[in-house]
Amino acid sequence: MKNNRRLILAVIIIFGILIGSFVKEVTTTTTTKDSETEEVLKVGILQYVSHEALDQISEGVVEGLAERGYVEGENLEIIFYNGQGDQSKLATMSQQLIDKKCDVLVGVATPAAQSLANATSSIPIIMAAITDPIKADLVQSLEEPGGNITGLSNRPSVEDQFALAAELLPKAKKIGILYSSAEDNSKSQVESATVAATALGLEVSEYVVNSTNEIAQTVEVMAEKADYIYLPQDNMIATAMPTVVAEANKSMTPIVTSVDTMVEAGGLVSIGQNQKDLGFESGKMVADALDGRKPATTPVYIYTKVEAVINMQQAEFLGIEIPEKVLAEAKLINE
Ligand code: TRP
Repeated sequence: MKNNRRLILAVIIIFGILIGSFVKEVTTTTTTKDSETEEVLKVGILQYVSHEALDQISEGVVEGLAERGYVEGENLEIIFYNGQGDQSKLATMSQQLIDKKCDVLVGVATPAAQSLANATSSIPIIMAAITDPIKADLVQSLEEPGGNITGLSNRPSVEDQFALAAELLPKAKKIGILYSSAEDNSKSQVESATVAATALGLEVSEYVVNSTNEIAQTVEVMAEKADYIYLPQDNMIATAMPTVVAEANKSMTPIVTSVDTMVEAGGLVSIGQNQKDLGFESGKMVADALDGRKPATTPVYIYTKVEAVINMQQAEFLGIEIPEKVLAEAKLINE
């Protein structure tokens, strides 16, 4: 009996060892297989329209992903669509990105993020450079977005922009704000700009356009009435900067903006943000989502870095003298 038990025990132990080594063998072969064919993840980027700022943001997104180890053509596929400012194109493209089974979606500018949000409530969406995610109905709370959407919000202070404008244009009393009716990002910024400007004793008039065709004539009217024109981060206006600048220059009306790229395009002054860097930081959040971090519990990142920018050629053209103190602190272009 005793011998029998020993025998059974020995047999069990031998079997155990055999099974153990077999299992080990199987697992080692699968892991080698895994590292040979590393999984390629898919990111879909939907950019609202082409203008310098959004182009830079999209570029930044790709660079931010690479910084975090997601490299296009290696372990990442990027599908890039541009909605060309057309709502129905945006809707179709959003659906296409979903059909192509993207792991994470990126909305560059508010209308693009809204279109993606309408198309899916399950695939993670990262907002790239969105002025006001709450007013745009993209998230319920900045600290705890709650759904499938999080990302980066950029909102340089309108108070600071008007304060700087006052140093360059101390006599200005009346300002005109130009924006498009279709963009929630602009509505939100125009509200805060109106409050800030009124508090500084400026008289504010709003000029809303429904299409780019209306811009030239609207600016002509504004330029007659306003001491300067203020431009929020509006995508339609950004695409039409050459027209805005040409019309404003006819009557030597200065343009104060909220974006550095609009100063580069002929505006006078801004306290803006580096657009490429906005994209870069958004790209890192896309990487977080690819790593499995849930948007619902990832706070919206409020980007606060700003820089004063002055277009010196435009200042000279308008005959504006810039105080030394301002010159020392601002980034000067077209010197
Ligand atoms: N913040 C804008 C939005 O929410 C997008 C944007 C970023 C933008 N940078 C800009 C628009 C510069 C005009 C100019 O849609």
